Amino acid sequence: MRGVSFVFAGSLLFAVACGGSQPAAEAPPPGAEAPPAGGEEAASETPAPPPTKPFEELTQEEKFAVMKKVVVPTMKPLFQAQDPEKFKDFGCVTCHGPHAKDGKFDMPNPELPKLKFSDNLKSHKEKTPEMLTFMMEKVTPEMAKALNMPHYDPATKKGFGCGGCHTHDM
Ligand code: HEC
Ligand code: HEC
Repeated sequence: MRGVSFVFAGSLLFAVACGGSQPAAEAPPPGAEAPPAGGEEAASETPAPPPTKPFEELTQEEKFAVMKKVVVPTMKPLFQAQDPEKFKDFGCVTCHGPHAKDGKFDMPNPELPKLKFSDNLKSHKEKTPEMLTFMMEKVTPEMAKALNMPHYDPATKKGFGCGGCHTHDM
């Protein structure tokens, strides 16, 4: 996963939030009213439809908008239903780590639990079976949809899968 880090520009985010005068060609609808520029709290609660282009083809501004308007509102209720206590402050930092606050959104995020594929996820099955099922059945497919990316296909090794967020041992 190629990760481009860039400096978080408040003004950029503001421009995205407000839509400006030139709506980006195939960007997701910027939403009627502008949410306040700022952190994850700014995300609206009803998810916007996924982008019409695959996430990787979007501009940096469009990626931001998709994260705020599609990804967070889609994923937050799922994570909070899974573990309300642990994910009560769900937001950019939950997936991107504390660096999100400095405008760094590289993925995969090495601060998430490193996955052990070498034993076919056996250790995770033993330690956190509910999280593992949640990741496989909810998080990965919903996230692929929200990013308008195909679900990971082991045959072609293409698409969005666990490695979109987690580092792993093979
Ligand atoms: C549910 C997990 C999750 C949450 C929550 C989340 N992101 Fe992301 N984000 C991702 C993933 C996964 C990618 C990489 C997608 C890909 O290209 O495969 C990504 C990519 C990005 C990118 C593009 C990085 C690049 O340079 O290509 C930006 C910018 C970004 N996120 C910002 C945000 C912001 C801002 C928030 C909070 C409003 C946020 N994200 C919340 C999972 C998340
Ligand atoms: C959209 C990002 C994203 C994707 C895709 C994703 N995960 Fe996760 N995963 C997370 C987050 C966020 C957590 C919670 C991390 C924490 O404890 O703060 C997590 C936690 C886990 C945990 C719990 C680990 C522990 O020790 O607490 C396991 C196991 C796991 N993921 C496995 C997987 C597997 C297997 C896949 C692919 C089927 C996958 N994940 C896909 C974001 C993701």
